[in-house]
Amino acid sequence: MGPERPVRGRHLPRGRDPAAGRRGGRRAPGPVAERRGVNMARRSHRLFARWYPKAAASIEDRGLGEQRARLLAGLSGRVLEVGSGHGANFPHYPPAVTELVAVEPEAALRDLAREQADGLGLAATVLDGQAERLAFENDSFDAVVSTLVLCSVEDQDRALAEIHRVLKPGGRLVLLEHVGSENRNLRALEYLFDVVIWSHVMGGCHTSRGTGAALAAAGFDTAGLEPRRLPYLPYPLKASPHLAGEARKPA
Ligand SMILES: C[S@@+](CC[C@H](N)C(=O)[O-])C[C@H]1O[C@@H](n2cnc3c(N)ncnc32)[C@H](O)[C@@H]1O
Repeated sequence: MGPERPVRGRHLPRGRDPAAGRRGGRRAPGPVAERRGVNMARRSHRLFARWYPKAAASIEDRGLGEQRARLLAGLSGRVLEVGSGHGANFPHYPPAVTELVAVEPEAALRDLAREQADGLGLAATVLDGQAERLAFENDSFDAVVSTLVLCSVEDQDRALAEIHRVLKPGGRLVLLEHVGSENRNLRALEYLFDVVIWSHVMGGCHTSRGTGAALAAAGFDTAGLEPRRLPYLPYPLKASPHLAGEARKPA
């Protein structure tokens, strides 16, 4: 595989590294990246990365694409997407987003995301990275986007702390995530299911996570989140509760 290459779309100024933040001017991985240990050891999910884009494409037209468009419609300014996968959200970013930086740990998905950005003529920079260690300055993004990612990060509390850190005060974490059942017994079953099989074959995904409570514990105002069902997803996610909307970092 060739060297990592940021994709710069037609609206992105050249010679400036988004990973260095607004006040920085160094290229990634600069001091911020090194300090935060960007290349933290992580189990790779190469097989998942190979089949996920096709599987996801089959449900975009059945409702997921519309859901993405509604979620992202109000975004503006400098936006970070964590776990961007193959760039399924990219067609839905509105023109008011002046700079898009995406972080994705799987190389194959990054390549597809870059192709997607190129094809759309989108101003996106796609970087290797993990939500748990974001190579960006504090308070440097107007919004962070996470769709179907917080179920898969290895350390959710750490990922949320990082997202909170890089958001500007008053900034929004815009998300669509499936979460664990509110019923304790069902949740215990989900946990067992995750440990025995699901997480291993689904790229580290978990069906049992208490993401709503974790968001509140990380300091987000969760009033802008709503419960959703996504009936077009395959089982067991079809039956899972979802959270959609925005969690705010207090101003
Ligand atoms: C189910 S896919 C969702 C992809 C995309 N966000 C979408 O909506 O289609 C989960 C994504 O999270 C990424 N991921 C897994 N662990 C991650 C981590 N620690 N930090 C950031 N992304 C991660 C995976 O590589 C994968 O692209």
